[in-house]
Amino acid sequence: MAGYLNTDIKKVTANKFVAMKRQGEKISMLTAYDFTTATIIDGAGIDGILVGDSASNVMAGNADTLPITLDEMIYHARSVARAVRRALVVCDMPFGTYQVSKDLAVANAVRMMKETGVDALKLEGGKEIADTIKHLVDIGIPVIGHLGLTPQSVHKFGGYGVRAKETAEAEKLIADAVALDKAGCFAITLEKVPADLAAEVTKRVSCATIGIGAGHATDGQILVYADMLGLTQGFKPKFLRQYAHLAQQMNDAVQAYITDVKAATFPSVDESY
Ligand code: KIV
Repeated sequence: MAGYLNTDIKKVTANKFVAMKRQGEKISMLTAYDFTTATIIDGAGIDGILVGDSASNVMAGNADTLPITLDEMIYHARSVARAVRRALVVCDMPFGTYQVSKDLAVANAVRMMKETGVDALKLEGGKEIADTIKHLVDIGIPVIGHLGLTPQSVHKFGGYGVRAKETAEAEKLIADAVALDKAGCFAITLEKVPADLAAEVTKRVSCATIGIGAGHATDGQILVYADMLGLTQGFKPKFLRQYAHLAQQMNDAVQAYITDVKAATFPSVDESY
């Protein structure tokens, strides 16, 4: 089994992400929301795990990320942090917990750090939250920014389409990325933007860029684990590569179990006390 098992474990830090960018080593990230999945993903040797607010979709079945609460994110983040020994663990601040005021953002961020054991937080948005991010970084919280398709703004965008295809939005995105870099972000997620724009941002900022649907020039890549493992059904955007078809395997296993129960071939004598 490849990964960190049987080797010395050195925890990945926010500074390590920046060092990897400088050294040209690509950064691998996936999401996770629970202990069991995070144990497997971390054991395989991933660099970073995001407890994304996509938990709202993947775990709770909501149509978007807006409904998930601070308490729910803390529950997921704590479960993941408990499992992880090597990867950098980052948690999304959910919608409404950092946009209202800087003071409320700081109070919520401090609560997330104290109650979860994660290593860093992620916030969506550009210049409008750069001050808040600078404050979080100043008090010792490493922050990842998130630009392009920011799912918490889905109602403003009117959908989940590719962002910044037009010059004005692309120029704004570059200015936002520079502002986040200056504010002290150690990384910026770029979601669903043209590959050449992501390449330009990656050149312009000193922090690492982590792409999802942003081409290959970013310093790293992230996918939602349930999508790349083929657990999510009916979701196959162009940027998604599926590395397994676990929904099919689970269906087959459950059907085999049902057959065995109905035929009374499970449990066997060996499986009984
Ligand atoms: O919530 C999430 O999973 C994310 C990734 C898609 C980057 O923000």
